[in-house]
Amino acid sequence: MEVRVDNAKCQGHAQCAAMSDDFFELDDLGFIVTISGAVPVRSEDRARLGADACPERVVSVEES
Ligand code: F3S
Repeated sequence: MEVRVDNAKCQGHAQCAAMSDDFFELDDLGFIVTISGAVPVRSEDRARLGADACPERVVSVEES
């Protein structure tokens, strides 16, 4: 699985990190700093939850 993060669209809602703070990291102002790339198997379920939780659709997942 890969996660796609359109960092420039982030509005700081922090719902992604609320679902998975071990995968989605925020900066001091609450904006996502996680970048696009492969998702570790252990984080796949929470990556999906975080993607679904973002109201700005900043995060999406692509199943491989
Ligand atoms: Fe940003 Fe969406 Fe997370 S707006 S902080 S990517 S919930």
